Amino acid sequence: MSPRDPAQPLSANAHLLRWVEKMAALTQPAAIHWVDGSQEENDSLCAQLVASRTFTKLNEKLWPGCFLARSDPGDVARVEDRTFICSNSRDGAGPTNNWVNPFEMRKTLKGLFTGCMAGRTMFVLPFSMGPVGSPMSQLGVQLTDSPYVVVNTRIMARIGLPVIREIDKAEKRVVPCMHSVGAPLAPGAKDVPWPCNKEKYIVHFPETREIWSYGSGYGGNALLGKKCFALRIASAMARDEGWMAEHMLILGVENPEGHKHYVAAAFPSACGKTNFAMLIPPAHFQKQGWKLTTVGDDIAWLKPDAHGRLHAINPEAGFFGVAPGTGLKTNPNAMASLAKNTIFTNCALTPEGGVWWEGMTDEPPTECVDWQGKKWTPALAKETGAKAAHANARFTAPAKQCPTMDSDWESPEGVPISAIIFGGRRATTMPLVYQAFNWSSGVYMGATMGSEMTAAAAGTIGKVRRDPMAMLPFCGYNMGDYFRHWINMQRHLSESPRIFHVNWFRKDKDGKFMWPGFSENMRVLKWIFDRVRAGGRAKETPIGWVPRHKDIEWDGMDFPEEKFEELQAFDRAGWRAEILGHEELFIDLHTHLPKELIYERELLICRL
Ligand code: GTP
Ligand code: SPV
Ligand code: MN
Repeated sequence: MSPRDPAQPLSANAHLLRWVEKMAALTQPAAIHWVDGSQEENDSLCAQLVASRTFTKLNEKLWPGCFLARSDPGDVARVEDRTFICSNSRDGAGPTNNWVNPFEMRKTLKGLFTGCMAGRTMFVLPFSMGPVGSPMSQLGVQLTDSPYVVVNTRIMARIGLPVIREIDKAEKRVVPCMHSVGAPLAPGAKDVPWPCNKEKYIVHFPETREIWSYGSGYGGNALLGKKCFALRIASAMARDEGWMAEHMLILGVENPEGHKHYVAAAFPSACGKTNFAMLIPPAHFQKQGWKLTTVGDDIAWLKPDAHGRLHAINPEAGFFGVAPGTGLKTNPNAMASLAKNTIFTNCALTPEGGVWWEGMTDEPPTECVDWQGKKWTPALAKETGAKAAHANARFTAPAKQCPTMDSDWESPEGVPISAIIFGGRRATTMPLVYQAFNWSSGVYMGATMGSEMTAAAAGTIGKVRRDPMAMLPFCGYNMGDYFRHWINMQRHLSESPRIFHVNWFRKDKDGKFMWPGFSENMRVLKWIFDRVRAGGRAKETPIGWVPRHKDIEWDGMDFPEEKFEELQAFDRAGWRAEILGHEELFIDLHTHLPKELIYERELLICRL
């Protein structure tokens, strides 16, 4: 059989064909490649990426099917200040989003995209967010001049021929996603390993459901199915259609009696979603028969079923996980997931042709090549503090390689959700865990969430900012309307999930984490499970329900009661400052704020 001509369109959909033609006329690529998603195609793209020095093939014995990419040092994370929500009105985007008049923005984009793919191949990449054919799934087509994006998306989403068949049925709207690294190649010019542009634009048109991304090849800037589609555009779809698109992991918990509940948890970027989603219970819990399963680690789409129970799918098919801090001790499931067929970005390269990052092992390698291609040694690190891997180095690994994937993780109807957990990275004030009194106080809890900023986005690391529902950088419309949508959702539910807040990151006077975290988080999860299942024991406080020391399972762990009291301490002065912080966000949103949240705030102040 002769190989397929990749320029030959794979779809018969007239709209799609016309759009591809139009975009090719605008961007002027040297060739067009329709992505079928096959193994052979993937192998040949990876070989091409090795030839262009974007990829280094890792030692096949140690890391089968794995590659390392080093990005441009100016293209290492999402760029929130270059992310735009171009709704028709400024009010539609709200004060927490960057808004530009869509007419203006289209003019800018037209300028940027004119001829931007010269000398490159334009890939036509069809993808499904969610299992192909699921009623909860959505379809997209990304046009991109980055083969790196194509091979990453093949892990992160369902792509290629099965998706084309869905598109050709034309039963669902397809979201057009335009992407260019913004680095046209002059005839005969030599390419660089990581083409990108200093000027970056990550643009969303929520009304017309379009995405345009220019200048970056990294993560959420470039894998458009993820944050751009599955959160920013999907949140706008969800508001219109009565469902929710959230920055949440999904996790299954089964107790020794065989009762199972699923929980969804919203933590901001680099605040522990992947780790919590893959939690392995401490030995004592395993012996008792507790079982945890993984459904998703970053995004959840939630929708009431015919009986009014909230069901969730993971729209993704892979993990784009933070590498630093991931090791056999803290997250063996992630280590198993990334052991093969994985793409590493901005990790360090070891002399054996493997990858390494801070926190993978206790002992660092004697030397390695750091994420910028320079020699790195432990001695150098001691002297200068140089990191071998970038703080936002990532692995792109297939979800099906995770040993704890839930048997229903690809179920077209999703899994029923019994609890929603909010959480941030907070050195002070926030206790280990507390439960909201009811749905509206839970929405208040999520809406006023704060977290210290991390390396997942360019910006000041460590500063506490309000990050409502971990969606501040990801909500595709006015945050006040988003809160209203959360309040309204309860009316469509026969049973509302219980709502909790956790904080694994409270520190003591010496600046040390007070809670060991990781697998020990199971003890908190068990309390949540018991509260959901049988109204397990708790104490009422001004902020909500909290466990007492005796309400937590401590077997196999020595955690003195005084220390637990300190970890759970309700700090009145801290909460005063906290509520003033809520006010700052509320002032910005005042014209769109649901009155439920204003009353909740008043009640909280009264209880204090
Ligand atoms: P995104 O992929 O950016 O959305 O991040 P995420 O929310 O999935 O965070 P992830 O699980 O990758 O964790 C980010 C960082 O937090 C890593 O360095 C982890 O080691 C660290 N971390 C995760 N869970 C815990 C915990 O329970 N305690 C402590 N102290 N650190 C944690
Ligand atoms: C996040 O920042 O929340 C991520 C990484 O999951 S990225 O895909 O780059 O957005
Ligand atoms: Mn994330």
